[in-house]
Amino acid sequence: MPSNAAPRQILVTSALPYANGSIHLGHMLEYIQTDIWVRFQKLRGNRCVYVCADDAHGSAIMLRAEKEGITPEQLIANVQAEHTADFADFLVDFDNYHSTHSDENRELSSLIYTRLKDAGHISTRSVTQYFDPEKQMFLADRFIKGTCPKCAAEDQYGDNCEKCGATYEPTDLKDPRSAISGATPVLRDSKHFFFRLQDFSDMLKQWTRSGALQESVANKIAEWLDSGLHEWDISRDAPYFGFEIPDEPGKYFYVWLDAPVGYMASFKNLCERRPDLSFDAFWGAESTAELYHFIGKDIINFHTLFWPAMLEGAGFRKPTAVNVHGYLTVNGQKMSKSRGTFIKARTYLEHLSPEYLRYYYAAKLSRGVEDMDLSLEDFVQKVNSDLVGKVVNIASRCAGFIHKGNGGVMVAANPAPELTDAFAAAVPGIADAYEKRDFSRAMRDIMALADKANAYIADKAPWSLNKQEGKQDEVQAICSLAINLFRQLVILLKPVLPILAADAEAFLNVPELKWDDHQTLLSDHQLNAFKPLLTRIEQAKIEAMVDASKEDLEASATDTGTETGAAAATGNGELTKEPIAGEIDFNSFAAVDLRIALIEKCEFVEGADKLLRLTLDIGDAKRNVFSGIKSAYPDPSKLEGRLTLYVANLAARKMKFGVSEGMVLAAGPGGEDIYLLSPDSGAKPGQRVK
Ligand code: MSP
Ligand code: ZN
Repeated sequence: MPSNAAPRQILVTSALPYANGSIHLGHMLEYIQTDIWVRFQKLRGNRCVYVCADDAHGSAIMLRAEKEGITPEQLIANVQAEHTADFADFLVDFDNYHSTHSDENRELSSLIYTRLKDAGHISTRSVTQYFDPEKQMFLADRFIKGTCPKCAAEDQYGDNCEKCGATYEPTDLKDPRSAISGATPVLRDSKHFFFRLQDFSDMLKQWTRSGALQESVANKIAEWLDSGLHEWDISRDAPYFGFEIPDEPGKYFYVWLDAPVGYMASFKNLCERRPDLSFDAFWGAESTAELYHFIGKDIINFHTLFWPAMLEGAGFRKPTAVNVHGYLTVNGQKMSKSRGTFIKARTYLEHLSPEYLRYYYAAKLSRGVEDMDLSLEDFVQKVNSDLVGKVVNIASRCAGFIHKGNGGVMVAANPAPELTDAFAAAVPGIADAYEKRDFSRAMRDIMALADKANAYIADKAPWSLNKQEGKQDEVQAICSLAINLFRQLVILLKPVLPILAADAEAFLNVPELKWDDHQTLLSDHQLNAFKPLLTRIEQAKIEAMVDASKEDLEASATDTGTETGAAAATGNGELTKEPIAGEIDFNSFAAVDLRIALIEKCEFVEGADKLLRLTLDIGDAKRNVFSGIKSAYPDPSKLEGRLTLYVANLAARKMKFGVSEGMVLAAGPGGEDIYLLSPDSGAKPGQRVK
């Protein structure tokens, strides 16, 4: 951005964390990603506002408070104090951190609902659901347990079986019980309120292709849009912790209705303290400000379908973009409490500096939605080699010569203009990488500059020159240039490493560095004493953190679960939670459970042009799979008795004709040219493919 361009007006949010659990390093991926982007915008001189809040509503929070013997209000206050301390200590610099259980949110949620209703986008109908007669409350799917109708595994949740992967309706469960009271639930009718999402189909088709979404996200959404949108159940019956629907006593907004409104509410709350900000300028339908939501891939549908439709229907502006990131794994696997890799933000902070993690995440984050691995070994290696070995090293090797040889004054000389030119030439590309959230590219380019600076210092070896007669001026010129290059690197890294930057500013004896300061060099400039900036990560700290995470497990109360993700949106069975494809690493590949399956039965599916229904024997269980191979196998019975390859841990998919549990593998372009894969003879059903 040329320095004379008008500053942009930007509002940024991260997803609102649930107020019933601690922040962990998976969450931190999102808040650190967002914070780096926000700090970059501020450093560039844009007006950028970053708001967030706790997501305080829902039955999970109500039940957890009850279990702890406190009110929901007390629970959410305790959790909010914990969350804000965690974020502050990770240097996440919100302009405001509010709560969805706030006056602003109540008013705005009611306003949006009322406008939607007045415009005819709300409908009502009766819904039959399980009801706990003891607790006197309706039960969400995950508060019902029973015996799987498919495989007879006991103690399974109301919507899917963890044993065999089957998905079903809670009413299909055998021996259903309330997970809350243990009582046998009864079916009961109740009036529910629905948001007519389908009214916004055309707008959403256009908006999702307007550049607001990453391509893979837009493609995923297109599948949902093409299969047709349905109305969305936005009400829950009392008892519920949330906001009562205006004029509908006993009916509450479903937590996901008022959660995104929390973004607006937090901003509105900030406006009261910041007279320079205007709510309408940022949220009005005609707003020219930019609005970005950073979220994880599990909550895409809420942010790219429901939320823009609510905003449009209520006469507000829509997001400029929704930026989706993948999930964090630790050491190549899902975070695990028993392995000590389910690491809470606080546990990390008790052992390590926040900037190490900020740098590591930056070094690995790209624009995509792929999952990201925190390999603890790689973490130590990368931070030590890049930050300590490359960046800090420049200053620590050269500052002493300036202090001893010239009273700490940098001289006015540039003995290697080709080097400062190379730095200047790299800056626009680095800015572009930050802007596009391609932080890994930014970090790579910055470290390449650090390598150049170190190579220059190694080549000139001021420590040897310093011992020679008459080389003092040269030593001062080399070291002054080195400190200038260090200062450039600090500017470029400032969005990621704010403490390092502040400490460096103190050493450099300069006011707060801004992005455009890279255009100047210090000369005839007095430095302050050099103090060690960042020190190496010791392996023992990592081990202590992992051990402490195992202890956390023993101390933590049982989780009541959260009301998250697509599970909540699958009321109509159309929006299922699926990861988005992209490049995968070895661990992701290894996570695919490929097995040998015997095709026991194979038949046509009534009303389906392309599908065959396969009944697979996979050794210890039977699976039902729909496969689009009909055109290649006009006589399905020929496939019966044949072995094939089967993906056993693919999330089950609800289709028009039933649930497909995994998939079989075939090759070829399609049509008649489809070839089902088979193992050599001798393979047995259930064997794992390695
Ligand atoms: N309360 C909802 C969001 C409402 S936004 C209007 C929620 N809360 S959450 O606490 O479950 O998650 C908060 C954010 O953290 C989400 O964007 C989620 O994707 C992200 N992450 C939670 N666990 C994560 C990982 N393991 N890895 C990366 N991000 C993760 O969803
Ligand atoms: Zn089962």
